[in-house]
Amino acid sequence: MPKQSAKLDIGIKDKSLENLPVWCKLSDCNRRSALGFVGKIMAEFNIEPAQRIKRLPPYLFGRLNALKLAKRQQGADIIDLGMGNPSDPVPQIVIDKLCEAAQDPRNHRYSASKGIKGLRKEIAKKYERKWNVQLDWQTEVLTCIGSKEGFSHLCLAMLGPGDTAVVPDPAFPIHNYSVALAGANVISVPLGNDEKFLKTIAKVVEHLYPKPKLLILNFPHNPTAMTVDEGFFETVVDVAKRFGIAVIHDFAYGETCFDGYKAPSLLSVKGAKDVGVEFITMSKPYNMAGFRIGFVAGNKNMLDYLATIKGYYDYGIFQAIQIAGIIALRHCEDDIIAQNERYRSRRDVVCEGLSRIGWEVQKPRATMFVWAKVPKEHSGGKGSIDYAMDLMEYAEVAIAPGRAFGENGEDYMRIALVENEQRLRQAIRNITRFVQQRPIRKAKSGKKD
Ligand SMILES: Cc1ncc(COP(=O)(O)O)c(C=O)c1O
Repeated sequence: MPKQSAKLDIGIKDKSLENLPVWCKLSDCNRRSALGFVGKIMAEFNIEPAQRIKRLPPYLFGRLNALKLAKRQQGADIIDLGMGNPSDPVPQIVIDKLCEAAQDPRNHRYSASKGIKGLRKEIAKKYERKWNVQLDWQTEVLTCIGSKEGFSHLCLAMLGPGDTAVVPDPAFPIHNYSVALAGANVISVPLGNDEKFLKTIAKVVEHLYPKPKLLILNFPHNPTAMTVDEGFFETVVDVAKRFGIAVIHDFAYGETCFDGYKAPSLLSVKGAKDVGVEFITMSKPYNMAGFRIGFVAGNKNMLDYLATIKGYYDYGIFQAIQIAGIIALRHCEDDIIAQNERYRSRRDVVCEGLSRIGWEVQKPRATMFVWAKVPKEHSGGKGSIDYAMDLMEYAEVAIAPGRAFGENGEDYMRIALVENEQRLRQAIRNITRFVQQRPIRKAKSGKKD
């Protein structure tokens, strides 16, 4: 047996083979030793992600998700109020249309990245009907594969290294991550909904160099459920024009309102289309979260930048979903009202229950969340992430720690109203027992109590 080595001298006899890559010229024996050699190199080879991945902050839900999984594997019945993932059904008329459209092979092809004409027209109609906003469906409306996709890609289309965006703290995490993934930096300002908040923003934009390029807003707000009144966006547009900053308004909860509150749209302000765009989603009002369908409307240039990126990246939403979306927009106003009524009564259960045990809550007039401040005597001074871990472990309730939404979220918890009232009452009982220092039970492997 010749001694095996990783040396690639294999003594080529056939001159015609000399131009082949070295790898192709190996004899069997040498190929095996070279494989070992390459394997060794591979073992030492460190595959690095792009810098933009490394810029992302640690994933704060990681520990909580791992614990939830472990507890469930042990048989615990975790009441999951962590994520704003709607659990109620999509209106039947929408499902019927989806099934019908899915049968048509013409809908199986790639679709238009900007969205089909009928859908974009329907969005323009909805804006006119609901917020008295006139939109040119061809240049001022675009569909997205869920508003999160559109939002992230718009940041990528508008921001790069050296750029900055102003984002209130706390915030829906993607509002920060999209800026970071685009290579730009976030300027955090404490969240507010009043003159003082807008003055802070004006000051930041006026005095910082380089001047921030984007202002990211979201009212009704996730996670705090904070809302704004008519007039707020007039000042926003004024500030944007005065200091030359573009605005993205995430209007995900624009239709999830109760107690007679009507959330104002950025686009209803005169001149808003000169400075910004607004994202709306079908995930929340119609429970179509898994369908992945949302829209953006407003400034033509910003939409053009987004359409350019999307034109390279995607082929649009499955056409049957877009057709079902038309039906939702056209026929499901009553379903939105019914859904909001569900959220309102769940909100009451949670707010009243948490108030009784001394958590500080204000009844929100919009969104599917309750934002509650935990008294120090309950948390024992623990950070919100550790406290959320305790609640999962001992109360078997999963809720989102405020810290996951920013530094200013510490001391708070976000409760998503995604379970029915009975389950919510159970969750409140579990939390109550826990804060009274009587853990309901420790999970035992494989068995439920
Ligand atoms: C403020 C906000 N924006 C956007 C989204 C995502 O919406 P979509 O499902 O359309 O991507 C959510 C989802 O929770 C949200 O809370």
